Amino acid sequence: MDAKTGRAEVLGTVVLLLGALAVTYILWPVPPPAPHGQGQQSDSCQLVLVESIPQDLQVASSPAQPLPQAWLQLLDAARESVHVASFYWSLTGADIGVNDSSSQQGEALLQKLEQLPGRNVSLAVVTSEPTLASNSTDLRLLVAHGAQVRQVPMRQLTGGVLHTKFWVVDQRHLYVGSANMDWRSLTQVKELGVVIYNCSQLARDLEKTFQTYWVLGAPHATLPKHWPGNYSTHINRFHPLQDSFSGLPTTAYLSASPPALCPYGRTGDLDALLAVMGGAREFLYVSVMEYFPTTRFRHPTRYWPVLDSALREAAVSRGVHVRLLVSCWLNTDPRMFPFLRSLQALSDPAASISVDVKVYIVPVGNHSNIPFGRVNHSKFMVTERAAYIGTSNWSEDYFSSTAGVGLVVRQDPPHSSPGPAPVQEQLRQVFERDWGSPYTVSLDGQAQGQDCAWQV
Ligand SMILES: *[C@@H]1O[C@H](CO)[C@@H](O)[C@H](O)[C@H]1NC(C)=O
Ligand SMILES: *[C@@H]1O[C@H](CO)[C@@H](O)[C@H](O)[C@H]1NC(C)=O
Ligand SMILES: *[C@@H]1O[C@H](CO)[C@@H](O)[C@H](O)[C@H]1NC(C)=O
Ligand SMILES: *[C@@H]1O[C@H](CO)[C@@H](O)[C@H](O)[C@H]1NC(C)=O
Ligand SMILES: *[C@@H]1O[C@H](CO)[C@@H](O)[C@H](O)[C@H]1NC(C)=O
Ligand SMILES: *[C@@H]1O[C@H](CO)[C@@H](O)[C@H](O)[C@H]1NC(C)=O
Ligand SMILES: *[C@@H]1O[C@H](CO)[C@@H](O)[C@H](O)[C@H]1NC(C)=O
Ligand SMILES: *[C@@H]1O[C@H](CO)[C@@H](O)[C@H](O)[C@H]1NC(C)=O
Repeated sequence: MDAKTGRAEVLGTVVLLLGALAVTYILWPVPPPAPHGQGQQSDSCQLVLVESIPQDLQVASSPAQPLPQAWLQLLDAARESVHVASFYWSLTGADIGVNDSSSQQGEALLQKLEQLPGRNVSLAVVTSEPTLASNSTDLRLLVAHGAQVRQVPMRQLTGGVLHTKFWVVDQRHLYVGSANMDWRSLTQVKELGVVIYNCSQLARDLEKTFQTYWVLGAPHATLPKHWPGNYSTHINRFHPLQDSFSGLPTTAYLSASPPALCPYGRTGDLDALLAVMGGAREFLYVSVMEYFPTTRFRHPTRYWPVLDSALREAAVSRGVHVRLLVSCWLNTDPRMFPFLRSLQALSDPAASISVDVKVYIVPVGNHSNIPFGRVNHSKFMVTERAAYIGTSNWSEDYFSSTAGVGLVVRQDPPHSSPGPAPVQEQLRQVFERDWGSPYTVSLDGQAQGQDCAWQV
């Protein structure tokens, strides 16, 4: 099927589905059954927030479950296939010449991955080329055990990197979040993600994005002008998946970046972020590692106010309470702070404009032997209406040339309590915990100089 027929067909299907949906809504006050689940085993999607907390951090518990256990549980559940997309791999301390007990969980994870092919579970990996972890032997080891590995030369293809991080297990379960396949993501870096179990419609949809990387990792691959029709999706911003997750009416879709890796129907990651921001009426809380309304890797630096403007607009035009939590560590570029101060300067309680910016600093403590650890790497946003969990820093390059994904999800509250809290409420609790934590300082506060590049 050529791209044009594919597009026409998808468009036709979307129009039909929308028509059918409109009719269903009129006739039926309750949420209709999901319209695009033909021929699949009956699903009962279950969504769980997952996080890593760096060792020795005194952090109250949250609705999120520990990431290391969630990853092991996914591998134990695998029966047929495990597909992993990760910026880079570094699951052993030896990779970076570190001998520290906190690398043991990563090493245990690598062992479980090695055992998959022997259990008849195929393992396919896509990663960025060239890699950050040049000394790592993880991928050679996995190949020796029967895994298939492809490296995607994003720099040649789009001028970016494959910064994405997700798993698809048995075309049925998925993980999306900030954690790379790095032992430090389990014990030294603050990470946030989501696991969705028993949800083949979303898992198959994420697999389509995995397949875009997979073909680009083949020898001599070029970027297609139009992706073939079988890469297109009809689960997107305009037509999210509608289903019941653990009994809660839920809508969800997956976004992707850059636009060149968005086949027909796929919502771009930037459009997903802007849609969630534009939908906020009460509050908009953002947690990102880095915040630059500019390009970061392209020179000369260009001003890029898209997300910055959306935050300002929410605060000034709609009276939304905006909070931005960014990370500071030894490798933070101090040029970020003037942009943060500029945002904070809008705050004017008398005019009902509420903008607050704070900085999270993970203390290095006695972990100074571990390079590039001890940072909050999470990237998420939550409003009273929706949760967004992504893999990208907030600067232009992450949306124009770098490959990443995002998940937008919204749940209605349960009819009767007790019941599971909607995901946006759980994520708000995670944010509020960190916003009020002793590791968080305001912009006019005193940064602990030895752990953060920014001196006041
Ligand atoms: C790789 O190993 C070499 C030799 O042991 C070392 O000099 C280099 O710093 C290591 N590179 C990384 C990224 O750890
Ligand atoms: C790592 O350190 C432990 C003790 O801290 C030591 O027993 C072990 O031999 C070291 N391993 C390597 C490979 O250096
Ligand atoms: C793996 O799958 C093959 C073919 O499906 C089957 O013959 C074999 O018994 C399986 N092995 C294990 C260890 O399950
Ligand atoms: C997924 O569904 C299977 C049954 O199809 C069930 O046994 C399993 O517990 C479910 N997993 C989760 C995490 O809900
Ligand atoms: C689309 O079809 C081609 C050709 O049959 C196949 O190689 C590719 O894996 C398919 N892609 C997806 C996402 O299904
Ligand atoms: C780190 O990430 C978490 C979750 O992503 C976020 O809520 C928090 O505010 C961020 N800051 C710190 C220091 O943890
Ligand atoms: C590192 O510091 C923490 C407290 O910050 C302490 O609990 C732990 O025992 C220390 N570890 C070592 C090896 O000194
Ligand atoms: C985000 O930005 C920081 C600082 O430039 C960089 O170290 C990190 O790799 C970037 N990407 C991710 C995934 O956070």
